[in-house]
Amino acid sequence: MTDVRLEGLTKRFGAVVAVDAVDLAIRSGEFVVLVGPSGSGKTTCLRMIAGLETVTSGSIFIGDTDVAQVHAKDRNVAMVFQSYALYPHMTVAENMGFALKIRKLPREEIDARVREVAATLGLTEELPRKPKTLSGGQQQRVALGRAIVRDPAVFLFDEPLSNLDAKLRVAMRGELIKLHHRLDTTMIYVTHDQIEAMTMGDRIVVMHEGEIRQVGTPLEVYDDPDDAFVAGFIGSPAMNLVEGAAGARDGAIAFRTDGLDLSLPAAHPAGGTDAVTLGIRPEFLDLQPSASAVELAGRIEAVEHLGAETILEVSTAGPTLVARLPRNDGVDHGSDISLWTEPANIMAFDTDSGMRLRA
Ligand SMILES: Nc1ncnc2c1ncn2[C@@H]1O[C@H](COP(=O)(O)OP(=O)(O)OP(=O)(O)O)[C@@H](O)[C@H]1O
Ligand SMILES: [Mg+2]
Repeated sequence: MTDVRLEGLTKRFGAVVAVDAVDLAIRSGEFVVLVGPSGSGKTTCLRMIAGLETVTSGSIFIGDTDVAQVHAKDRNVAMVFQSYALYPHMTVAENMGFALKIRKLPREEIDARVREVAATLGLTEELPRKPKTLSGGQQQRVALGRAIVRDPAVFLFDEPLSNLDAKLRVAMRGELIKLHHRLDTTMIYVTHDQIEAMTMGDRIVVMHEGEIRQVGTPLEVYDDPDDAFVAGFIGSPAMNLVEGAAGARDGAIAFRTDGLDLSLPAAHPAGGTDAVTLGIRPEFLDLQPSASAVELAGRIEAVEHLGAETILEVSTAGPTLVARLPRNDGVDHGSDISLWTEPANIMAFDTDSGMRLRA
């Protein structure tokens, strides 16, 4: 059982600050996902934990030891990459046992360990085969197996599923989650795919420009984003974010933007500052009015029937909004429509700092 703690972890490449003073405590046995857009520093973070990248400053504790200056091979971590990088001339069994062979373990012990892991991954039949005769999903399982065989204290994954087609990716996601339950080993997983992060992580760490923007369970981050970046990044379709100006009016708060004028209750957090960005999740836009709801009138620009739900793109006199409705066969492209939302479901952010405004 091993916890991992990053303290002030920083990496500079010349003038570029790839990872900027990251503090993060990962509990033993936890599945943590680092998620963020391209270039946010996820891979650099992971490579520093693995010992594949030097640290500019800060500490990396694996258990009680600061390993920042410890050689990669002495850190007892295993990393799985997007490219499986299997040895083409070796069989699956030889690929999986390679690290143990380097460690000079007895042949029988290696064989037994490889067979045991292959069985749990459904690779027993493939053991004598060469990588190029395997499907992408099988190759990815071999790469996983190669890491599991080593029995590391911590697993590090860098976008391990992104070379797989969509269906296989979903299947492998499920397999990885089950694997984590079975092994109960600390896992740190990097992805730019927020759906992968939401479905896999015990906790997710949202990164942007080398910094951690928010850490929490998937639903904590989804329900309660700390800033407009996190709000817009987590969730699909993305949260509607509308910039405008807020001010007091007749005991209420007026929010105005080009073509749109909304009245919000006096206690609404949008009253916290002048330059305000409102945030409305697509599922909080509704076709049914209610006494307390705010109306947003517009025209339907696009309809997506996904079966269980219907996604609408609606252009108002101001912004274009995306609404996520339960299945609705009665909405047509080009028709006028009113969307309704409860003020309590409208988030507010300070447009200048991006920070969430709270009541
Ligand atoms: N070896 C390097 N030399 C110079 N700059 C680098 C190097 N590696 C990464 N960077 C820079 O550091 C920043 C973070 O890169 P990193 O690869 O960690 O991002 P990422 O979040 O993994 O992105 P992606 O989702 O595209 O994989 C980027 O600006 C990148 O250009
Ligand atoms: Mg990366």
